[in-house]
Amino acid sequence: MSTPAAQPGGSARPEQALGPSLVLDAAGMDGTGTAGGLAPPDQVTREDHLSLPALRRRFPALGRLVHDRRLVYLDSAATALKLDDVIDAQANHYRRSGANAHRGLHTLADEATTAYEQARERVAHWVRAPGTDCVVITRSTTAGLNLLARGLEPSLQAGDEVLLTEMEHHANLVPWIQLAQRAGIVLRHIPLTDQGTLDLGQLATLMTPRTRVVSLTYVSNVLGTINPIAAIAEAAHAMGALVVLDAAQAVGHMPVDFGDLGADLMVFSAHKAYGPMGLGFLVGTSEALDRLAPLEGGGQMIREVHLQHATWEDLPLRLEAGTADVASATAFVAAMDMLDRIGLDQVLARDRELTGYALQQLGGLGGLQLLGPADPERRGALISFHDPQLHPHDLATLLDEQGVAVRAGHHCAQPLHRKLGLPATTRASFGVYSGRDDVDALIDGIAFARRFFS
Ligand code: ALA
Repeated sequence: MSTPAAQPGGSARPEQALGPSLVLDAAGMDGTGTAGGLAPPDQVTREDHLSLPALRRRFPALGRLVHDRRLVYLDSAATALKLDDVIDAQANHYRRSGANAHRGLHTLADEATTAYEQARERVAHWVRAPGTDCVVITRSTTAGLNLLARGLEPSLQAGDEVLLTEMEHHANLVPWIQLAQRAGIVLRHIPLTDQGTLDLGQLATLMTPRTRVVSLTYVSNVLGTINPIAAIAEAAHAMGALVVLDAAQAVGHMPVDFGDLGADLMVFSAHKAYGPMGLGFLVGTSEALDRLAPLEGGGQMIREVHLQHATWEDLPLRLEAGTADVASATAFVAAMDMLDRIGLDQVLARDRELTGYALQQLGGLGGLQLLGPADPERRGALISFHDPQLHPHDLATLLDEQGVAVRAGHHCAQPLHRKLGLPATTRASFGVYSGRDDVDALIDGIAFARRFFS
């Protein structure tokens, strides 16, 4: 059995409070990532889900060493680590059956259809969708946004406007740029304030009678800013515009109630919420989803096909051409179960506590430019920063050598970085398995990198 490597700088840190209700227990992190000592998943108690060491043992990747160091995974905004139950459920689908959904009448096909539709129902309930038919299963957040921009195209005219923001991920910029190029749509952008929030004072002039769509992120993947969606949606609806929400960085970190947010359409991925890659969701009101022309044609999305014409299935299958990823959809249920056992309010409280601690510790290093709101209550579980002494790629490489995984670069948000006057930044982002010891490892790693380059 391997033991965790010493932290950079060799400092042994005392056990610390890890957030509301989370205290590093005596078992600690054994570095093996095995579920040793844990009850089988069906006997896991709520208590286990509130204990950080027990939670960490549910994520096998945390058991590996990187450059002989304990893995300190601070890249959950790029993708969260995968839960053991998710990995098992995905493998079990292939082991026990591997059958296709909505295709056959035999037992295995019927089981696959039932499991796939149960996953849809679970997601609908989880994000408070208006109904199960209001959840379209996609490949990713990006796929969902492309489906939207293409699907809305027939109902838009040249000169119509789409309002975005300056803090968007490329996934919520490029599909609209492509739409603008194809259809003569005008793109406008809500600017940023110096605090890294949206300048909503500009909304009245940016929204016009030609605004058809307002599409924005719930939580910025660079600034961490949580945007006031309900207020923006109210203003957009007053102008008759549809509201599209990119919830990729929110889902899995906070309770997401589609109805309360007031958006018409919302997209997110499973992989940022401890589920499999290659799986995403588009949630919408029936009225908004009905407006979407199908982007892809093929099996499953049709009702009748003739040689010269075809008719479409009802929602949601109308927007799901081709074989679905049944294994991933059914495996994602395990991730939602885990998050519900912790409680998403508790996850949010933990994120805030840890983000507050990280902001304080990073600020304590001196000389770092921390991006986004200073108040942890107004941001998600990620912090991007710029160190004038270190190029982000050099810093990320040196951190990696100490077992600390962060993301460095433009984070798929070039216009935002251009606005900030920074070609790249370093980002640390958290998951349910993150603790103060991870933040301490980051701080030690930055101090080490500074010494290395001085
Ligand atoms: N959108 C993901 C990120 O921000 C990939 O890292």
